[in-house]
Amino acid sequence: RLLIIDFGSQVTQLIARRLRELNVYCEIHPYNSVDEAFISGFAPRAVILSGGPDSVTRDGSPRAPQKLFEMGIPLLGICYGQQVMMHQLGGTVDSGHGTAEFGRAFVTPQNSLNILEGWFNDGDEQVWMSHGDHVSKIADGFEVYGTSPNAPYAITADVARNFYAVQFHPEVHHTPNGSKLYENFVKLAGFTGDWTMGAYREQAIAAIREQVGDEQVICGLSGGVDSSVAAVLLHEAIGDQLTCVFVDHGLLRMGEAEEVVTMFRDHYNMKLIHANEQELFLGELDGQSDPETKRKIIGKLFIDVFDKYARPIGAKFLAQGTLYPDVIESVSFSGGPSVTIKSHHNVGGLPEKMDMALVEPLRELFKDEVRDLGRELGLPDSFVGRHPFPGPGLAIRCPGEITRPKLEILRKADAVYIDQIRKHGLYDDIWQAFVAILPVRTVGVMGDGRTYDYACALRAVTSVDGMTADYFPFSHEFLGETATRIINEVEGINRVTYDITSKPPGTIEWE
Ligand code: XMP
Repeated sequence: RLLIIDFGSQVTQLIARRLRELNVYCEIHPYNSVDEAFISGFAPRAVILSGGPDSVTRDGSPRAPQKLFEMGIPLLGICYGQQVMMHQLGGTVDSGHGTAEFGRAFVTPQNSLNILEGWFNDGDEQVWMSHGDHVSKIADGFEVYGTSPNAPYAITADVARNFYAVQFHPEVHHTPNGSKLYENFVKLAGFTGDWTMGAYREQAIAAIREQVGDEQVICGLSGGVDSSVAAVLLHEAIGDQLTCVFVDHGLLRMGEAEEVVTMFRDHYNMKLIHANEQELFLGELDGQSDPETKRKIIGKLFIDVFDKYARPIGAKFLAQGTLYPDVIESVSFSGGPSVTIKSHHNVGGLPEKMDMALVEPLRELFKDEVRDLGRELGLPDSFVGRHPFPGPGLAIRCPGEITRPKLEILRKADAVYIDQIRKHGLYDDIWQAFVAILPVRTVGVMGDGRTYDYACALRAVTSVDGMTADYFPFSHEFLGETATRIINEVEGINRVTYDITSKPPGTIEWE
């Protein structure tokens, strides 16, 4: 396996993505958790040093363990990683002085080099630069293989030792041939690209068995892709040692609770507790209209309820569908807490409260890999391809006070909308789609009568990770047909709008 040492670049995760696409198994670890003992234990076949925001010229700035350079394994340094490598091997790095480069640059070849096979076929290569410092003297043994106007050492290597160092970021989209460079690098390190989901499944099952032994494990099942895949994987590994708790807070979509219970209890034969706590949640939410208050109430009740059902089982382990992007420790140097836009609710806080250890069998996977694993485990496409659904559920799609009648209207409108999207074959092109019921009533006319009913907003966005999003460009025909259906089929709604806000400045959910 390959080790990526993270020096805090914004794009370190993309290195892992590129390698996974090449079917190479890799892990990212922050530089401050990687010491010599760790490296001996990890036994990497190759190491990549990521970029980062610090300056190697600053006293106390991050370094790589010196041992790395004595292990005889291939190394690739990127941006800050290149500078660290040069610095630790006896070269020199200088700050600024007009040689900072941000954005597109073109690299001109100097000599041919194994990791550049497939490069420079059409002359100079476009790359993406983002650096303030630059290498001003390369270390002994290194030679130059590519230069750019502001980076005389854009590509350097000590071929005899298999050390490679580049100033630009081959992992980003704006280095169009970047994957080729990674492909050449992993090939020379001896990776054959044989890491598959089947292999992952086997490894993960063995690891779960080893971790939990014959103890009991509980798992919060939401019906979302992540917790569903985690549950099925765990069930395959430990069978009846697993109990799933499905908290029904009364804020689920139409038919959702039945679907989840049928799938996991009847189809998979799992031990599943269906915690019907609608009264409790809706009771506590009664009269509350502030978004953060609602989220806090739901978050707290969720933990209480989970605790109530799970504690009697006496489980020593809590399983969570945590994904890779959630676990990579951010190595941010900027410091200072970021502003809370929304307090996201998950089962965080539970392990401490219940004194349980965590089992996180998906913590090495990206979202689309979780979907692949789900398919590998035989979960139906309709489950694996589901849009994300937030923990607080319909509460955050019902701005203002939450009442049962409003939730009922919302569920019906949402079901019609999703049905429309499926019928038009658009479901898989959309990251997430839902209806929000607005806290206003407007006047309309139906037949010969006046109506005074709720307005709703349709939302549909495209996104890669939910961090940024754009509204989905439905045709006017689709929107018109959907509005007509909702007004005709859902009593209580007489006006339909389409939300065309991107994120930022909007968020995906309405609260
Ligand atoms: P926003 O509204 O912040 O949503 O743009 C981004 C993504 O996160 C989901 N979301 C949540 N998921 N608990 C969750 O599990 C939450 O509290 C929560 N709030 C938002 C949202 O559905 C979208 O996919």
